[in-house]
Amino acid sequence: MRVKGFGVIGAGSMGNGIAQVSAQAGFPTVLFDIGTAQLDRAKTTIQKSLQKLEEKGKLKETGAAIFGRIAFTTSLTDLKTCDFVVEAASENREVKFKLFAQLDELLAKDAVITTNTSSISITEIAGKTKRADKIAGMHFMNPVPIMTLVEGIRGLATSDATFAHVRAVSEAMGKTFIEAKDAPGFAVNRILMPMINEGFFALNEGLASAKDIDTALKLGCNFPMGPLELADFVGIDVCLSVCEVLHRDLGDPKYRPSPLMRKYVEAGWLGRKSGRGVYVY
Ligand code: CAA
Repeated sequence: MRVKGFGVIGAGSMGNGIAQVSAQAGFPTVLFDIGTAQLDRAKTTIQKSLQKLEEKGKLKETGAAIFGRIAFTTSLTDLKTCDFVVEAASENREVKFKLFAQLDELLAKDAVITTNTSSISITEIAGKTKRADKIAGMHFMNPVPIMTLVEGIRGLATSDATFAHVRAVSEAMGKTFIEAKDAPGFAVNRILMPMINEGFFALNEGLASAKDIDTALKLGCNFPMGPLELADFVGIDVCLSVCEVLHRDLGDPKYRPSPLMRKYVEAGWLGRKSGRGVYVY
């Protein structure tokens, strides 16, 4: 299994992690974003992460050699020769639909294009291209260099060959691959987000303090982070948007987002990234 060029769209926390892990796997990698500021932040994040891993002896080569395998660009056409692409742009349907149509025009006919979407239908995204058989979901977890899961999702038309290739690429990146159906939230978020949402309902009811809710799940269930701490880590806006997809597409009122979660987003309290969420950073 070889990847000649691994393209990543979006240099946010998921995109930069995916580019890093691709480079660690030995793939020549191109990381695209529309803004130079995002690319500059991505460079710093990747360098810091590689440095940590190198100090702990967890890399097979130097961090500098791995970093040197990543090209950073604001020009989408630089992905032209990539034969494998992961789209990790913002979780916005229109943005993703437009990018997939552009990539379909730009890339060679046999290139595989995957999306890191956490909730949008893979079948619908694939429908924006003329290569639905070569489109799949490839859902990484945050922080990508540390979390070892990739959730693979087939759209209605994804071919067996494409899906086998996505699995092989994920495994070459050191990840464990599971297969989930193309249904709202796939496997991880279908189960994780209702738990986070319930954490907000419990906080709103005054069931326990935020800290005690998190401690309950950390010490009571051995979770590395409690639900509210994790919401701050993932981004409360991201959690709300996934909860809205679950509620709308599954049509069951049990998935309705907590009004408190919505209030936090309205206030701009999005979690770690905005300096304030359930906790202050
Ligand atoms: N690069 C390199 N190393 C990193 C790193 C990174 N980006 N992030 C953390 N680390 C390392 C740290 O250096 C540390 O190493 P040592 O143990 O050798 O010192 C180790 O990972 C643990 O980190 P910390 O000591 O900073 O903190 P921690 O023990 O609390 O671990 C954590 C941090 C790994 C994030 C842990 O809290 C955790 O697993 N949290 C849950 C994460 C989770 O659930 N992610 C999935 C979210 S859902 C999602 O992503 C999908 C979606 O669609 C929303």
